[in-house]
Amino acid sequence: MASTGPWGAIPQAEGVIQGVENALEKFSSRDRQHTGEKSDSSITDTSSGDLKKGNGDQEVTKLARQITQNSVKTAGGGYPNPFLGTNDPALDPLSGQFRPETWMKTLMGLQSRDPERYPERIAGVSYKNLNVHGFGTLTDYQKTFGNAPLEVAGIFNRITGRGQTKIQILRDFEGLVKSGEMLVVLGRPGSGCSTLLKTIAGETHGFYIDEKSDINYQGIPMKTMHKDFRGECMYQAEVDVHFPQLTVGQTLNFAAQARAPRNRIPGVTRKQYAKHMTDVIMAVFGLSHTYHTKVGNDFVRGVSGGERKRVSIAEAALGGSPLQCWDNSTRGLDSATALEFVKTLRLSTSLSGATAAVAIYQASQSIYDIFDKVVVLYEGRQIYFGPIGAAKAYFVNLGFYCTERATTGDFLTSLTNSVERIVREGFEGRVPRTPDEFAVVWQKSEARSVLLQEIDQFEHEFPVGGENLTKFKHSRQAQQAKRQ
Ligand SMILES: Nc1ncnc2c1ncn2[C@@H]1O[C@H](COP(=O)(O)OP(=O)(O)OP(=O)(O)O)[C@@H](O)[C@H]1O
Ligand SMILES: [Mg+2]
Repeated sequence: MASTGPWGAIPQAEGVIQGVENALEKFSSRDRQHTGEKSDSSITDTSSGDLKKGNGDQEVTKLARQITQNSVKTAGGGYPNPFLGTNDPALDPLSGQFRPETWMKTLMGLQSRDPERYPERIAGVSYKNLNVHGFGTLTDYQKTFGNAPLEVAGIFNRITGRGQTKIQILRDFEGLVKSGEMLVVLGRPGSGCSTLLKTIAGETHGFYIDEKSDINYQGIPMKTMHKDFRGECMYQAEVDVHFPQLTVGQTLNFAAQARAPRNRIPGVTRKQYAKHMTDVIMAVFGLSHTYHTKVGNDFVRGVSGGERKRVSIAEAALGGSPLQCWDNSTRGLDSATALEFVKTLRLSTSLSGATAAVAIYQASQSIYDIFDKVVVLYEGRQIYFGPIGAAKAYFVNLGFYCTERATTGDFLTSLTNSVERIVREGFEGRVPRTPDEFAVVWQKSEARSVLLQEIDQFEHEFPVGGENLTKFKHSRQAQQAKRQ
């Protein structure tokens, strides 16, 4: 169920390190273009090495170099086992000089020696003709004394199954997020962001995916994925649910124990695994100082709201799902911490090949630029899906105006509000207005045909039910934690 790292799938081949460097170079060069936001967050002064020092560009590039150049091997040529304690402070999360990247490289080094024991995981997903619906009553009214009899009628209808209307939540969605990529999901509240994320993650309780929808998890059909391979996809809701009386250390240790994989590094017990992973994840997310503090909630005194958010994120990261959907996870975080969160996610996807889809309201430019792809939702329609760098030009070409001050994220969401969007001179009366009109324009667009070609290529590479399914079953058997 879980991989041996807080980062999702751990890649096996040595060559992947080059890929990491490329990905991080790409990330940092994009980051460099935007200096508007400094990441001097509250987690900056923690002991988690370069990752937390903020200045994304140089730091991440430096980090990529270290991964490729610095040897973490011991004198004997082997890799030290950080789970059993080492003299190297960079591998010790309690040392104050812990370096997640060195730790990660060590782990990758240890695992790459034994590909049989640590087979690859699946992370990418493509979907086409994706339609999702639910059922509800058409009149959702506020209860008052006057209309109380209506409510009684409503209860009667619910019991008898009458009065329920089909509500189309998502119409004709298509997209492709490959292993190691990050997708940002933009839309106004109510536009279907949560439904899209839940659908990808397979949390379909309460709604229905149309039979004709095509979802391909790198060769694994949707049903198999969500029935046999639960835990590979993760949906993190925006609300934090914890036991307030437990300390942060207890909470994370419990999560780490529950998710300890069977194919741990030889000689490492489940307890040792959980202890070390807890320390690592707390250092990575700047939580080390809260080990003995209660998680708390609105009534029980505990860690701060931002820290509690990070506990949730850390807990989900311990699960190590290769495909991660984060729903509005930056809510309640200040902008610097939100940026830090997305950067951490970027690092983990780049290093491990995991895939992340994240719904964010009000993404700053620095946050937006960390992603690879963006999808824009307008009342249940997909009005754009593609590379983050091409989205603005797509809508400007349609005839919309992006003000100097607006971030790309704000511009994209402003289009889905008739009051906010601004039409360029000369385009009056020629631009799409309703969600359906936007969707039609998208369907006829060049950007869409490029996407469809990419999806075809992906499906050709990973045909549903093909050899990848067999490989994946094997991988799961190796990783799956023993039922306790
Ligand atoms: N199970 C369901 N049955 C019927 N309608 C639903 C169901 N789930 C969601 N909806 C409706 O579909 C629309 C999209 O819901 P969704 O929760 O995906 O939106 P969202 O973009 O995440 O919004 P928010 O920001 O409020 O969370 C809403 O109008 C919602 O009322
Ligand atoms: Mg939502």
